[in-house]
Amino acid sequence: MKRIIIQYGGTGDLAEKKLYPAYENLMERGYQFEVLALGRRFESRSQFLSAVLRNGTNRAFTDHLHYLNYDMAHPDAVTHLSEQIKMLMQESREVEFIYYLALQPSLYETAIAQIKEIDSALACECTLTKKIIVEKPFGFDGESAKRYNTVLEQAFTNREIYRVDHYLGKEFMQNLLLMRFHNDIIRRIWDNRTIESIQIIFDEEHGVDQRLGFYEKIGVVRDTIQNHILQIITFLTMAEPASISFEDIAIEKQKVLRAISPIQEFYMGRYESLGSGSGKVVTTPTYASFTLFVNTYYFAGIPIYVRTGKMQRQAKSLIYIKFKNTTREVMHDPTIAENAVIITIHPELTIDISMNLKVPNSNWKSKPVRFRFNQSETFGVNTPEAYEQIVEKILLGDKSLFPTMEEITESWRIVEPMLSDQIPVEVYPIRTLPRFTIDMAKKNNFSWFD
Ligand code: BG6
Repeated sequence: MKRIIIQYGGTGDLAEKKLYPAYENLMERGYQFEVLALGRRFESRSQFLSAVLRNGTNRAFTDHLHYLNYDMAHPDAVTHLSEQIKMLMQESREVEFIYYLALQPSLYETAIAQIKEIDSALACECTLTKKIIVEKPFGFDGESAKRYNTVLEQAFTNREIYRVDHYLGKEFMQNLLLMRFHNDIIRRIWDNRTIESIQIIFDEEHGVDQRLGFYEKIGVVRDTIQNHILQIITFLTMAEPASISFEDIAIEKQKVLRAISPIQEFYMGRYESLGSGSGKVVTTPTYASFTLFVNTYYFAGIPIYVRTGKMQRQAKSLIYIKFKNTTREVMHDPTIAENAVIITIHPELTIDISMNLKVPNSNWKSKPVRFRFNQSETFGVNTPEAYEQIVEKILLGDKSLFPTMEEITESWRIVEPMLSDQIPVEVYPIRTLPRFTIDMAKKNNFSWFD
């Protein structure tokens, strides 16, 4: 079969940094396909190749990487693209088109309308299958997401549509489910009888940089909270699925999202500008912290504290699950530390369980010690990147790592209050935490797990 990935946003940051390396690895692993990158930035294929590829990119990949200088607004855009695709199809008897939209959400409607036209222009003497891949954020808010989806479903069947959230391709996410559902000892402690609170910290060192044009229209809520963070929360709090199948997992995730009210306590910030031309003049929020509750029978009452954003002193991603500390009272010892599970994603994938054990030669004194699992020490460092897993699933036609439209709709409902442009935005000096993160912790009587 001849597979052609038609890469919208082919000269963008995502394609360059994540998708092309994933395509290259997959080709090395034996998958066969052509990639047609669409973009406006370069005139010719050679300019494109020399600008976007790293030193050491494999010839076996570049031979299959094509380029079309493509302006969607040009009156002949569709004709040019159709011709190019026809050339790539050659005389194949079985063809699959994978339209990959890595675009600003506001361009979806035009892109999909064009794809529909191309589709009808490309009748061939062959078996033709197609898929459409849409990057997050899916829409700009709940209403536009619904609108885009209607346009999408007029042109494609649900089976052909893949809505991407690359966090579902991450090893730690899949591990979260297995850790929870393949271990009786975890299952029994994983609810509001034992857990006191949960923290999710996703601090990034980098700023908006070359993605300014994209990010400026999006901001932190649409960029990571509506999708990645809420997906993490579903994995942390969903009930056991009837099976580890995509459909059963989706049912449980949707239940979690439906049990979350629109976020009420939240704060926003943006990092201070470093002067025009530096790529660091941002006017949209780049940092947020908030509290939410999952109001299911087993999780109601557990506050989930989240902080996430850019230009921090240190990149750090972790989930901290703090257990209730009854022992302190029972043993009349205020120094006894709480038990916790700490899932660290960055800088290294580790899972720690913290327990109190006796200090040698002491008079019944305990000290918190950690039992650690380290992914790379146990399984080696060769875990495929999230995007490689995502693209592989697309090639295989396996929809297990993609959020459903119901999940996306619920997620927009949850973040809705955070999307208003009337919200005060604190300007924080780069490499510092916005003040509101510290104030939020004080107000809610907890300390961030730093
Ligand atoms: C992307 C966001 O989806 O996720 C970025 O657009 C963010 O702003 C990134 O930096 C984080 O993903 P990862 O895989 O680096 O944790």
